[in-house]
Amino acid sequence: MTSQTTVKTLLILGASGDLTGRLLLPGLARLVATGRAAGLLLVGAGSDPWSPEQWQERVHTAFDAAAETATDAGRDALAAMAKSTEYHQADVTADGPLAELLAGLEGPVAVYFALPPQVSQKACEILRPEQVPAGTRLVMEKPFGAGEESARELNRTLLSLVPEDHIHRVDHFLGKATVLNILGLRFANNFLEPVWNRDHIAKVEIIFDEDLALEGRARYYDGAGALRDMIQSHLLQIMALLAIEPPATIGERDLRDAIAAVLRASSIKPPYTDSTRRARYLAGSLGGKDIPDYAAEEGVDPDRNTETLAEVRVDIDNWRWKGVPFILRSGKALGTKRKEAVVTFRPVPHLPAGFTGRDTPNTLRIGFGPDTLELDVDVNGPGDIFSLDRAALVAELNASELLPYGEVLEGVLTGDPLLSVRGDTAEECWRIVEPVLAAWAAGKVPLEEYRAGSGGPAPE
Ligand code: BG6
Repeated sequence: MTSQTTVKTLLILGASGDLTGRLLLPGLARLVATGRAAGLLLVGAGSDPWSPEQWQERVHTAFDAAAETATDAGRDALAAMAKSTEYHQADVTADGPLAELLAGLEGPVAVYFALPPQVSQKACEILRPEQVPAGTRLVMEKPFGAGEESARELNRTLLSLVPEDHIHRVDHFLGKATVLNILGLRFANNFLEPVWNRDHIAKVEIIFDEDLALEGRARYYDGAGALRDMIQSHLLQIMALLAIEPPATIGERDLRDAIAAVLRASSIKPPYTDSTRRARYLAGSLGGKDIPDYAAEEGVDPDRNTETLAEVRVDIDNWRWKGVPFILRSGKALGTKRKEAVVTFRPVPHLPAGFTGRDTPNTLRIGFGPDTLELDVDVNGPGDIFSLDRAALVAELNASELLPYGEVLEGVLTGDPLLSVRGDTAEECWRIVEPVLAAWAAGKVPLEEYRAGSGGPAPE
């Protein structure tokens, strides 16, 4: 399949950085290999004095991997992009270099800020509207701002340069196939929507337990922690998709309006000792590897008390969800990887007397990678016909041929902001977590501990 992108040039700032090598180029490569970015030019810029060969090597590492499974046409597209790509050394926080770069590129240009947030912010602040050619798209990585006020400030800066639908705030979870599958599951099945509310659902959990530790990311992570890193962005987005009202279309306006409405109704309520938990890992072992205390990891300042596991209960105060807890949890260095949303239904109002065996509330599990759906139901088990037993109806969900970053990039390149976080939503997500961040910083919620490789802090 080929499609014309509305963007002619993808300019990656921070091209010599970790994000570009690890996620962005592999995502782009798979997209190019499908033929869906025909004619796109790739330009990298970074503060490092890289030679053209160094950039070529980086591009080839990602592109060669994608070429292995590509068609002949896909390989040609990758080769064409690799041949024409350029690298520019530029300090984009200085007045001039970014504007000069933009002026010299074939437009429309999508500028991908694969840079630390303060650097991206500075680069945007220094740009003047007349230096940004019409049609330019600005692509911002998370975290978007450092709080509600700073996100608002950043939104103002960006809006002085380009219109909202040309701003792409990246949340790569919105590019995960499973998350998009939630919409199909919820809105294409008549048996589900009538029970998708407080009358029938007891709680919703969104769990993202990782079996990875810090992985050398202290510089970023120690200033962020699990609440900012995972919950403020990714998990609130998943929650919103699980909770939105049925939109008329899945066009960007309808879907993003629905997401915004849910998030506006959401909050984490005090006392935070009841509605939140935070914890930090101690030395342990993960997959046979020894892991040091988080506090002893290189680059970590133990006095910051950065949490590596965060759990919050979000309340959505609207007709559909009033009183239903949405539990969002994410932690690092846990023994078992668990990435899923679990919807627990209320028990039946009356189980006819005479049944024996287990009667447990139904649960619907939506697994994020491997992408699965599992509905746990009570059925009359084998043997005694009066005895109830548990059965799981399991399905594998459609996996995208693109990586999450490829999905998001495709939206950027074709000018569709559907999979980008809208400005008001970015502010709203900070508004939800900010009181918790303040309470935690003030030491109002104890920082618990858990061993790396364990299941997390002991249940309360
Ligand atoms: C990133 C976080 O945004 O998402 C990481 O910064 C986290 O800490 C990652 O590990 C999880 O996403 P994925 O797609 O790697 O599972």
